[in-house]
Amino acid sequence: MIALFSEKIRFFDTTLRDGEQTPGVSLKPAEKLQIATMLADLGIATIEAGSAAASEGEREAIALIADAGLGAEVATFVRALPGDIDDAVACGVDCVHLVVPVSDLHIQAKLRKTRDAVCTMAWEAVEYAKDHGLVVELSGEDASRADQEFLAMLFAGGVERGADRLCFCDTVGLMTPELVAEQIPALLSAPLSIHCHDDLGLALANTIAALKAGATAAHVTVNGLGERAGNTALEELAVALEHLYGVETGLRIEKIYPLATTVSRLTNVPLPTNKAIVGEMAFTHESGIHAHGVLRDASTYEPLTPESVGRTRRIVLGKHSGSASVGAALKELGYHCTEVQHAEIVARVKALGDEGRRVTDADLMAIADSVTGVS
Ligand code: KIV
Ligand code: ZN
Repeated sequence: MIALFSEKIRFFDTTLRDGEQTPGVSLKPAEKLQIATMLADLGIATIEAGSAAASEGEREAIALIADAGLGAEVATFVRALPGDIDDAVACGVDCVHLVVPVSDLHIQAKLRKTRDAVCTMAWEAVEYAKDHGLVVELSGEDASRADQEFLAMLFAGGVERGADRLCFCDTVGLMTPELVAEQIPALLSAPLSIHCHDDLGLALANTIAALKAGATAAHVTVNGLGERAGNTALEELAVALEHLYGVETGLRIEKIYPLATTVSRLTNVPLPTNKAIVGEMAFTHESGIHAHGVLRDASTYEPLTPESVGRTRRIVLGKHSGSASVGAALKELGYHCTEVQHAEIVARVKALGDEGRRVTDADLMAIADSVTGVS
């Protein structure tokens, strides 16, 4: 293993804020608490529970989570407005994720303000939040398209006024690992988080590049939920850091799958079947060569054990199945066949698969019964 990361990586989970911004997703307070409890149990350091200024229901949910004593830091998203920070205080959170737009595009087109005005707003808001005893993570929205000298100056001013942490947002997923490696080192006037979006499928790679370049925390969401194409997936980052880079995340990774399925159910966002780590097919094998290999030694075709992420392996039958997987399934179902019967059963399984069917246990039993003369 190559050791590239200098310290323990903090996971800042934003499933309940950016993840909930997935179009069509709206979680009730009790549902948010259920997810927050599972996140804390997994070992997440900071849970961004929502956006306190957004609605009454949102404040209820954030207060519920802040009150629950989960053992994780609870944060809320706030703009650089005293009213938002008052809402955060009223909810009883530990931390504000204080976000200001930092690219000229966002400053001018969205806020219709100047860089100076944004600095003043951001710095006054940091002071206001610190006066109210909050941990402050000062976040630059659209940081990847900002003038990097301006961003470094805004961040340094925030740190002078008490910001505890900083965050670089690749808001529309335009970064590359090379650019990240270039830009992050100049921004480390305080511990820095990286917040990536997956618009071009690079969120995980960019997040890892930032952590290698000196960022110490990663913003993630369960199942990669989030605006548009989503955010860096918690499960992918955790497993990649542990298994590929030898980084001790401190997360109980075996709790990932139950969390993924709970989030999918409560948000009504189905897990793509071939999604890394948590998709239905991630530990499922059909082809004869693969199934045969896995039955002898699972590491032949699995990068990690399914149990390590709270799952079990599945061997399914279809036209690609071979004699070994059909034999294993028959044994599990209690059949003892002759060689000739076995060959006939394999042929019938493949024929069913050729019809475009996935062969279920019931199908296999019907075939085996008819071939062996039972029933
Ligand atoms: O992607 C982003 O820029 C964000 C900020 C609003 C924090 O989610
Ligand atoms: Zn975001």
